[in-house]
Amino acid sequence: MPGETMKKIVSLAKRRGFIFQSSEIYGGLKACYDYGPLGVELKRNIKEAWWRDMVYRRRDIVGIDCSIIMHPDVWKASGHLAGFCDPLVDCKNCKERFRADKAPRRPAGSDCQYREGGKADGKKLAGKVGPQGYVCPVCGCGDLSAERMFNLMFRTSLGPIDPLQEILDAFDALAPLSSEERKARLAEIVNRSAVYLRPETAQGMFVNFLNVLNCSRLKPPFGIAQMGKSYRNEITTSNLTFRTCEFEQMEMEYFVEPGTDEEWYRYWQSERLSWYRSLGMRSERLRLRAHEHKELAHYAKACCDVEYFFPFETDDGEGEWGELEGIANRTDYDLKRHSEYSGKDLSYFETETRRRFIPYVIEPAAGADRAALAFLCDAYAEDKAPDAEGREEVRVVLRFHPRLAPIKAAVLPLVKRDGMPDKAEAIMKALLAEGIKCFYDEAGAIGRRYRRMDEAGTPWCITIDADTLKDETITIRDRDSMQQVRVPMAGVVTWLKERLQ
Ligand code: GAP
Repeated sequence: MPGETMKKIVSLAKRRGFIFQSSEIYGGLKACYDYGPLGVELKRNIKEAWWRDMVYRRRDIVGIDCSIIMHPDVWKASGHLAGFCDPLVDCKNCKERFRADKAPRRPAGSDCQYREGGKADGKKLAGKVGPQGYVCPVCGCGDLSAERMFNLMFRTSLGPIDPLQEILDAFDALAPLSSEERKARLAEIVNRSAVYLRPETAQGMFVNFLNVLNCSRLKPPFGIAQMGKSYRNEITTSNLTFRTCEFEQMEMEYFVEPGTDEEWYRYWQSERLSWYRSLGMRSERLRLRAHEHKELAHYAKACCDVEYFFPFETDDGEGEWGELEGIANRTDYDLKRHSEYSGKDLSYFETETRRRFIPYVIEPAAGADRAALAFLCDAYAEDKAPDAEGREEVRVVLRFHPRLAPIKAAVLPLVKRDGMPDKAEAIMKALLAEGIKCFYDEAGAIGRRYRRMDEAGTPWCITIDADTLKDETITIRDRDSMQQVRVPMAGVVTWLKERLQ
């Protein structure tokens, strides 16, 4: 059944505490999600792996952390105020609003079947696809409003100014004006105090280019990395956290000498693809896809996406390639624009050659939430395991790379007596003292406890049994092979640390 795997993943994500709908008890908020106890660890582990590999393991990249609200001129210079828009349409049948460029395509004038009524639960109707050549993703109707452009930035106001009061005061003066003039006058009032939640972290790196250059004494080629929240007023339909209004980005701007940009562009494509593989993502579900010329953002000379094959429900079955990360050659566009708008010279002077140039930028821009969703989908597996009576049953297991697993080890006394819980407590204490996220469970049959840990993606289960009391050894069960090894209790922390590195 199409989308069956995705449905199981969504259900597991909620049941086991990876991802919850935001404000669920109030009916939820569209395109907003919360991370539960396991989800928050998964996402943190991804971000830590990114920071470690992009910043700590390199001498040419430093990190920064910029504010989410920036000077509004930043967004004029970057082009976001004028051009960061999506084409939106409304379905005339069910009133759903959606992105025209993401709607299912059909030949204009062809027949379509759709479900009648608001958000489309009604009876089946027949119709024709309109001149735009796409149908509503909710009800399948082909009768849609004309496209209009919608800016994705969230606007708010800064300072103790109440634009509503000013609008109220201007009310009488606005009345005789035409609708266009009134709109322009109102925009003027609102824009006086308007600021925006950043739609990308990248601009923080460009506007701090000189600050970082001066304090770090780095010279091109070098990079500035940042992770943090970004906001886009996205119109989305489904697929959990793939496209949300609030999300975390992990971006790095790599400043290089013009002329060397293409070489660095290729270098970062291969580095970034390898990064996902190094964390266990299956190669056959990963690919690099170069953008066609018409897809390129206004600032990019070239761009290539790292894509993952998600098990999303599609028209013709299950599975769809989706972007995890974009690697763009942004040329000198951003530094030039900020030089122009701020009046500050953002060029670099190379003392050895006495040359001055504006660096080109290669940008690997990833999303932590999208990566978390991809790692979750990639880890999901069903296999067979024996139940308490030795009969084979279906086992759901999340095969996370140990570095990404939310819980690294479970500590399980075989029974709740004979001193086994005391031994287990001692192991828990030793693991916690080392900052290894672990979980204690003494409730229920051991097989059930193993299954619970398999579903949480815990790579190792440490079991304390009767032999532990005799010879101070414990068993460690491997999540994927389900094989067990016996290890001295005193060596268990070292055993785990070696495997987590
Ligand atoms: N600075 C370039 C930039 O922001 P982007 O392709 O728009 O490029 C980079 O975003 C990454 O951020 C994407 O590949 C994706 O992983 C993540 N991302 C973008 N929009 C998102 C959204 N609405 N929800 C979740 N992740 C998003």
